[in-house]
Amino acid sequence: MARSKKPYVDARPLTEKVKTAKGRKASSTKWLQRQLNDPYVQEAQRVGLRGRAAFKLRQIDDKFHFLKPGARIVDLGAAPGGWSQVAAERVKSDSSKGRAKTGTVIGLDIKDIEPLVGATFLKGDFMSEEGPAVVRAALGGQANVVLSDMAPDATGHSLTDHLRIIAMAEAAVEFAVEVLVPNGTVVVKVLQGADEPALFDTMRRSFINIRRFKPGASRGDSAELYLIGQVLRQSSP
Ligand SMILES: C[S@@+](CC[C@H](N)C(=O)[O-])C[C@H]1O[C@@H](n2cnc3c(N)ncnc32)[C@H](O)[C@@H]1O
Repeated sequence: MARSKKPYVDARPLTEKVKTAKGRKASSTKWLQRQLNDPYVQEAQRVGLRGRAAFKLRQIDDKFHFLKPGARIVDLGAAPGGWSQVAAERVKSDSSKGRAKTGTVIGLDIKDIEPLVGATFLKGDFMSEEGPAVVRAALGGQANVVLSDMAPDATGHSLTDHLRIIAMAEAAVEFAVEVLVPNGTVVVKVLQGADEPALFDTMRRSFINIRRFKPGASRGDSAELYLIGQVLRQSSP
């Protein structure tokens, strides 16, 4: 995975049609058709990334520059492992092929994740009482970056989905404040909605720089957005 300044993919019109199979819901057919014609999906397959989400982290890091060689990264909601792939490459946690290992990537998900050279994957529920402690134990010290792309399965009820993802982002921010080095970075996925400004304000109490960012790889028709907090305040105001 070479790091490149060039645009990752060209936008191309949706062309491939999916026949509506008997028994498949119309929504599944639409999803499949969108996947097959999504240039990010095609590019991810071509370059061996585990999903189109990987491009989102590349684009976030290209803007905010936190995945530095040697950094210690926590990746919450890591399955299937696209963000961890990007993180492992950029922090140089992959010691294979004669490379010196400098960084660390620890990923957690409720789902199984295929092993990845340069990352340690844990299976567990971050929202459970013991979730954060399990990650902290694996980390064994401070982190430079806490990432959360955690998202519950969509219910289709936008307020419910919004509130659930905000709760996950809040938990990730709370964890980040505990484990980050003073100039650390937290990145959390949210869905825009009524409670997002309150989370932004909570983050402002702990971080000096807060930004909202929607990477190009995030679908334009989705309410998805990332909040990036950088540099911890010395003490809460
Ligand atoms: C959008 S996907 C993450 C994609 C990932 N960043 C990548 O690049 O491959 C969201 C993930 O959050 C996970 N997740 C949802 N709730 C979780 C929880 N309570 N604890 C840990 N992971 C959770 C889901 O299982 C799912 O794999």
